[in-house]
Amino acid sequence: MSIWLPAHIFKNHCFIFGPRIGLNSCRVHSLSNGFAGLFPIKRRASVTTAVPNHRIRAGKRETYTVVSDNVNYGGKQVISVTPQLYEYLLGNVREPEILRELREETATLRGSQMQVSPDQAQLLAMLVQIQGAQRCIEVGIFTGYSSLAVALVLPEQGCLVACERDEKSIEVTKRYYDRAGVSSKVDVRHGKAADTLHSMIHNGEGCSYDFAFIDADKKMYHEYFELLLRLVRVGGVIVVDNVLWHGRVADTLANDSTTVSIRSFNESLFKDKRVDISMVPIGDGMTICRKR
Ligand SMILES: C[S@@+](CC[C@H](N)C(=O)[O-])C[C@H]1O[C@@H](n2cnc3c(N)ncnc32)[C@H](O)[C@@H]1O
Repeated sequence: MSIWLPAHIFKNHCFIFGPRIGLNSCRVHSLSNGFAGLFPIKRRASVTTAVPNHRIRAGKRETYTVVSDNVNYGGKQVISVTPQLYEYLLGNVREPEILRELREETATLRGSQMQVSPDQAQLLAMLVQIQGAQRCIEVGIFTGYSSLAVALVLPEQGCLVACERDEKSIEVTKRYYDRAGVSSKVDVRHGKAADTLHSMIHNGEGCSYDFAFIDADKKMYHEYFELLLRLVRVGGVIVVDNVLWHGRVADTLANDSTTVSIRSFNESLFKDKRVDISMVPIGDGMTICRKR
């Protein structure tokens, strides 16, 4: 039996529903510009049944999918997002022109699915603003979409340490930092992110950062988190991306090494008394952590 479920062009934007890995089939409706490029993915029903009380109301006229109305949670109806609803949501994202241009250029490059979605970038920028953050770190900047979103809202005296190992991505990134007039705020560190973070700690920068975003190699998440916890001040925020890993974390049949590693990271974060946490189903899932 097969059912149709939504997925999105932006950064593995599948919400709870599932991996782009091992799909039965995949059909691209439109990959042209902007937010309209959405494609449904045909998947086995067995994967989605991993969610208790999961009901699917797929069909032309439906605008949402109920993922839970469990009586144990007061029958609260929790919905997922259809392509139509997601397009509406994106229509309410105030994406700066320079970010739109960067997103569109990145869409022509290999690995473009790695960049965060506009709604994720907006949330990151909002967290930085709410915090009044001045000193930030990003681990894994790729062509710079999320880091530029953060840099744009930093005050003039603010700084963002941007860690990236890929030189070609950095070239694109720097061009956009320049165009956006934020180059003076961004300190790009080319190399392995763990080495950069270790050197920052050795330089006595511990507890001096307000905000950090982890979005690099998933198997290093434990290490990045420990290093960033030393660099971020009490009350500082660490945001971790891809914590739902295309839904695979909840799929009992998925036991590949990256899924196992992210699951283990999520479990340890859940038990970690050093931080307050909130796991948010945006993009591929982000956990927001606040250092106690
Ligand atoms: C998911 S992408 C980042 C996307 C970015 N946040 C954005 O919104 O465009 C991950 C990036 O991490 C970089 N990366 C992976 N492992 C790394 C490492 N050990 N040190 C530094 N960068 C790394 C990759 O080259 C890639 O550009």
